Amino acid sequence: MKKSQLVLVSLLVAVAFVATATLASAAPIVIKFSHVVAENTPKGQMANKFKELVEKRLPGKVVVEVFPNSQLFGDDNVLEAMLLGDVQLAAPALSKFEKYTSSLQIFDLPFLFKDMAAVERFQQSEDGQKMLSSMKKKGLIGLGYLHNGLKQLSSSSPLRVPADAAGKKFRIMTSDVLAAQFEAVDAMPLKKPFSEVFTLLQTKAIDGQENTWSNIYSKKFYEVQPYITESNHGVLDYLVVTSSEFWMGLPDDIRAEVKKSLDEAIAFGNDVSEKKAIEDRQKIIDSKRSEVIELTDAERQQWVEAMKPVWKQFENAIGKDYIEAAAASN
Ligand code: SIN
Repeated sequence: MKKSQLVLVSLLVAVAFVATATLASAAPIVIKFSHVVAENTPKGQMANKFKELVEKRLPGKVVVEVFPNSQLFGDDNVLEAMLLGDVQLAAPALSKFEKYTSSLQIFDLPFLFKDMAAVERFQQSEDGQKMLSSMKKKGLIGLGYLHNGLKQLSSSSPLRVPADAAGKKFRIMTSDVLAAQFEAVDAMPLKKPFSEVFTLLQTKAIDGQENTWSNIYSKKFYEVQPYITESNHGVLDYLVVTSSEFWMGLPDDIRAEVKKSLDEAIAFGNDVSEKKAIEDRQKIIDSKRSEVIELTDAERQQWVEAMKPVWKQFENAIGKDYIEAAAASN
């Protein structure tokens, strides 16, 4: 080969090398966001808004893949998958972190918050913000709280007073506080993933469950539960969570944009949650598939008195100061 040909070949090889390296370095960061609810819920809409914002702000740099309806991971394995790097974002209900931290159990205490404004005040307080990093040592970081709303009790028979729940089986999320809450009214709690609830209700393997208006509506629980007691007895909110390894491994400028988009998506999701609680409740009433039972003050007081001793039971695990601070947010 002549010297000029050799120079040309070397040049071509160098160009090819640079092109390959450039292409490789330009591969976008993929964020898989896994959740268990439908797309028309506060969390579903928040996840889709996050994708829209991130991909608009970081075109070609970050791609967000959203997997709703337990398509990728369910409640029982999403956090393990996150620690293995198989999923980067999720927003499990606060009740589902028991294995990783006891402080978030505070949100399961029955009748602790009188409304969502009190929940918001506590989450944004110094104590609430401290809880976001309560799982750091376990490799998980809370990036923000997202609202769904207050829980109602659905059942195959009318529930007006605690005695009506005695002996009945209720599906609960994986939380010992929720188990204690149902045991306090002599009911039988069963920890089961969200994806199984409809079938359990339909086949009458369980008598009832607790959930928000948007989950009861979007997952059609009201079609297989003839009674819903408007108890507002607890809160079902979420923690948007990621792994420390993924989060700290992001370039600083990308991490800042992703966080900004997430904060905006959460604010959007919180607005959706407020509207959905009203709209989906009304859709259920209009469907006439399920009767919504409104409690009198005296009936509600019976539930409060029966369930409130659960606070004391978990005082040591959660922290008395936290419980007092949360109660003060009312
Ligand atoms: C969710 O809203 O993410 C699921 C709630 C549940 O498991 O009941």
